[in-house]
Amino acid sequence: MSTPHLIEFSKIGSSSLGYITVAQNSGLPFQIQRVYWTYFTPDSMIRGHHAHYDLEQVIFATSGIIEFNLEGIDGQQLKFILDSPNVGLYIPKLYWRTIKFSHNAVLLCLASMEYSEKDYIRSYYDFSLLKQEFAQ
Ligand code: TYD
Repeated sequence: MSTPHLIEFSKIGSSSLGYITVAQNSGLPFQIQRVYWTYFTPDSMIRGHHAHYDLEQVIFATSGIIEFNLEGIDGQQLKFILDSPNVGLYIPKLYWRTIKFSHNAVLLCLASMEYSEKDYIRSYYDFSLLKQEFAQ
């Protein structure tokens, strides 16, 4: 089973010119099938509260700061702070996540599948059943 981890992407440029960072399929653990971004999230809001059966993602805070709390079906709890536009968080399938945003945060997600509501595990009870199955 793969585990969540940060991936550092190259920064092209300089502090005087500004930077460009590039993500393309050849540098990713999956082929990109979808890109989405979220913005204007109030800093009091906690989003996420779900896991995915199959989806893999690499997620960036292209601006602001985004905190991810992840839980695997093995019970492992992990916290990641995204605060650099060139650092992405790889999230494999089957990780429950909650996400907090600074007021100016923009979250950019590269996803391994097109959107399907059937891929979501939105009930923590259903997720805990998967944890129990995994533990047996
Ligand atoms: P969701 O993934 O639950 O957002 P978050 O984890 O940030 O709270 O998605 C929020 C809503 O947007 C939900 O109704 C599904 C919809 N949505 C799409 O229609 N297509 C997509 O690609 C995504 C990511 C979400």
